[in-house]
Amino acid sequence: MCGIVGIVGQDAVADGLIEALRRLEYRGYDSAGIATLEHGRLERRRAEGKLVNLRTRLEESPLTGTIGIGHTRWATHGRPNETNAHPHATARLAVVHNGIIENFRELKAELQGHGVRFESETDTEVVAQLVSHLMDGGLDPVAAVAAALPRLRGAFALGFVFAGHDDLLIGARHGAPLAIGFGQDKSGGGETYLGSDALALAPFTEEITYLEEGDWAVLSRAGAEIHDLSGAVVLRERQRIVAQAFRVEKGNHRHFMGKEIHEQPEVVGRTLAHYVDLSQGRVALPEALPFDFRDLSRLSITACGTAYYAGLVAKYWFEKLARLPVEIDVASEARYREPPLERDGLTLVISQSGETADTLASLRYAKAQGQHTLAVVNVPTSTIAREASAAVPTLAGPEIGVASTKAFSCQLTVLLCLAIAAGRARGTLSAEAERGLVDALITVPGLMADALQREGEVEGLAREIAKARDVLYLGRGTAYPMALEGALKLKEISYIHAEGYAAGELKHGPIALIDESVPVIVIAPHDAIFEKTVSNMQEVAARGGRIILIGDAKGAAAAGLDTMATVTMPDLDPVVAPIVYAVPIQLIAYHTAVFMGKDVDQPRNLAKSVTVE
Ligand code: F6R
Repeated sequence: MCGIVGIVGQDAVADGLIEALRRLEYRGYDSAGIATLEHGRLERRRAEGKLVNLRTRLEESPLTGTIGIGHTRWATHGRPNETNAHPHATARLAVVHNGIIENFRELKAELQGHGVRFESETDTEVVAQLVSHLMDGGLDPVAAVAAALPRLRGAFALGFVFAGHDDLLIGARHGAPLAIGFGQDKSGGGETYLGSDALALAPFTEEITYLEEGDWAVLSRAGAEIHDLSGAVVLRERQRIVAQAFRVEKGNHRHFMGKEIHEQPEVVGRTLAHYVDLSQGRVALPEALPFDFRDLSRLSITACGTAYYAGLVAKYWFEKLARLPVEIDVASEARYREPPLERDGLTLVISQSGETADTLASLRYAKAQGQHTLAVVNVPTSTIAREASAAVPTLAGPEIGVASTKAFSCQLTVLLCLAIAAGRARGTLSAEAERGLVDALITVPGLMADALQREGEVEGLAREIAKARDVLYLGRGTAYPMALEGALKLKEISYIHAEGYAAGELKHGPIALIDESVPVIVIAPHDAIFEKTVSNMQEVAARGGRIILIGDAKGAAAAGLDTMATVTMPDLDPVVAPIVYAVPIQLIAYHTAVFMGKDVDQPRNLAKSVTVE
């Protein structure tokens, strides 16, 4: 949550800061701000709401400084207004912050005891005031930051600039990611950059260094000096990023979400090509795994949100194909539940961003218990990817829309490949069965393209759904987690209340909600338990409920029900159905929200990367 950026440049940096913030807006968009050094004095421009408001503010009142910091906010402490917007500043310095300072009340009270006055409700302002206070006591900026950092508790990343110091920017990482970029302006003068991720730095440079946990760095035009937690100067590897991989344009689409839904046949195909040996008709994992599936008595999965639902689908796959018992929990519960985990067992974490605070904490808990950890992750340079004992990538490319779409289908693809590999290793899948599954898998990109052909139909349906106050989603087997995902997708971008249920669970309570005003979206490929779902649809129909069936022609004919609508899906092997059925589920949410005029790429109160608990 929150994106931070800093530039020590040769020319005015305001435009560069704004460009980087545009790329970081997925992390939060409650407010934005920048600070630059104007003739030795710090000047800020801040605005409530999206970046466009800050842009307007800067047009009215430009900044020309050649060193500066910027921030885009997802509010944690204090309302999303201009006073609480970053950078926070004193006469001596300005600071931008991502994360939470847990002991800010304590520090605030202490500083107030010294007569310090606060103007915002944020935790961040204590950092500005603390460093300023230490400088009042005679410390120079570097010494003051070094003295302040050990006093801060919580997970955070920080960027500082100082009045009167035209060639000094300090960054610090403690629990939230931070990268340094190294580049040059057009005439070859040195420039150095700081950013929450490589995406933010991609317009300026291809050469970056990720700070490690506890690192802090002193940046100047000549480069960066990095210190570890103990204060010792350390060398950290420089990496090349491929700027091409960080293109963030919408192309012909109105929204990133629409574009990302349509990219799925391509990115799922790319992910499959990474994990499947087509010539042999078998799964071939290129990443070495530091454990053997044969040795496992249980698999623990943990993740948040949509990634958690991908894990829930995988539970069915691992249990069926590899006969491996799976325990799964949302990471915010798993991390505090302190589940007993066997030494040398396996914990699987799933994350698009690779930075989700609760998922990372669960991973660390599992490691501390002596477990192997395997991460299914979309950002290969992320903290989770780096800390897990092994990481297997989803090759979805950057996902910008806040609602996860293509990352989800790529997660499912990787998870199914892993379940097949586990089945082979454990002797529960014959070579022939594996070939059958691989044959089914390789049809998936084409089937997703077919499913995208139903878009016009779904668009019409969305106009009806938009009238509803509540929507129910039902499914059995792997369609149950898909029902949960469908409901999450709809509520997060359209703000219509939606719930997903296991179809068989309906009669245990939720059926009381059914009347003609509640659309019931039933996800039901024609699989072995289809008949059971039909019985549940009958129960809905008998109570006047309006059914929208997402299923294949065979199922629709067999059900013989009067539905409000049917989204007809292609025939497929039910094992791969979740990956293909993700498409109509996403399209329903997308078109409902677009029809309702909602901001689908940046829904209210949300952010793409959840680096706070
Ligand atoms: C919903 C959504 C979120 C994320 C969740 C985990 O559309 O995107 O529920 O799935 O915040 O994020 P990652 O996968 O980055 O750990």
